[in-house]
Amino acid sequence: MDGLMISPFTQSMNTASTPTHTTLVIGGTGKTGRRVVERLAAQGLPHRVGSRAGTPPFEWNDESTWHRALEGMTAAYVVYYPDLAFPGAAATVATFFEVAVRNGVRRLVLLSGRGEEEAQASERALQSSGADWTILQSTWLSQNFSEHFLYEPVLEGVIALPAGDVAEPFVDAEDVADIAVAALGDDRHIGQVYELTGPRLLTFADAAHDIAEATGRDINYISVTAEEYKAAAAAAGVPAEEVEPLTDLFTTVLDGRNARLTDGVRRALGRQPRDFRDYARATAASGTWNVATAAER
Ligand SMILES: NC(=O)c1ccc[n+]([C@@H]2O[C@H](COP(=O)([O-])OP(=O)(O)OC[C@H]3O[C@@H](n4cnc5c(N)ncnc54)[C@H](OP(=O)(O)O)[C@@H]3O)[C@@H](O)[C@H]2O)c1
Repeated sequence: MDGLMISPFTQSMNTASTPTHTTLVIGGTGKTGRRVVERLAAQGLPHRVGSRAGTPPFEWNDESTWHRALEGMTAAYVVYYPDLAFPGAAATVATFFEVAVRNGVRRLVLLSGRGEEEAQASERALQSSGADWTILQSTWLSQNFSEHFLYEPVLEGVIALPAGDVAEPFVDAEDVADIAVAALGDDRHIGQVYELTGPRLLTFADAAHDIAEATGRDINYISVTAEEYKAAAAAAGVPAEEVEPLTDLFTTVLDGRNARLTDGVRRALGRQPRDFRDYARATAASGTWNVATAAER
């Protein structure tokens, strides 16, 4: 099968009592998906990277790519892009679940957004898909500062968001990936909705402070209005059709509704989530935020 990563050790690891899924990891090159792929590979578990550049490719906007990507798969880790809260997302994701189950998928793990009302339609579609399901309702990922839209602002030293002084319990993509892999392999996670946060509430100013401390650079947070953010995003080249829903998303999920901690990581993994400060220190040590070398990348 095209693009199927399978370790020579997989067969010997299987036992009759522990059926091994073959997993399509959608968003398998992204923040959580890439880490899920790394873990499945390390465990010798068969999987396929779902990506527009994959073999075969997977493209959310082209249903014809889904069938080949699902061929031979019995499970999927589902990351919708750009966001489950965006217009049309719920219908696309619901159709995907139908297609997946028709193609033999029996286990589905969905990355959803915490406090996102629009994402709940996708969660309901998952729950009625007929597959065994697990929902990961994630708060903002710490890795948004190093692998996503807050990376450039960190390099520039100014993080401007319409977030006021709201507190957010950033969660680490490493923890989310640990839970996704646990959910794919262990029946105890079937039917669970995990609301995932880190161990500490931080304002964006606190997050900027932790990154500044870890990098030894001057990095500041500036609270802007939604209109100012929209204008800056458009000027930075964010596609027009994404600027509005992105800003809406920020202003709704950053209205304080998520400013509380949950025990989702502990419930799923039996351990504490990773702290933002540890993420900041490790990321700084990796050189990701090194301005001189970032320019060469
Ligand atoms: N970021 C957060 O803080 C956060 C928090 C909670 C929930 N979420 C949820 O996570 C989802 C987004 O994840 P993310 O923000 O962490 O991003 P991400 O997974 O880092 O997104 C990038 C991934 O999406 C893939 N991708 C992009 N466009 C695609 C398309 N048209 N078709 C197929 N694959 C595509 C990319 O693959 P290729 O480029 O290789 O094709 C890449 O693997 C959303 O549904 C959101 O609700 C995110």
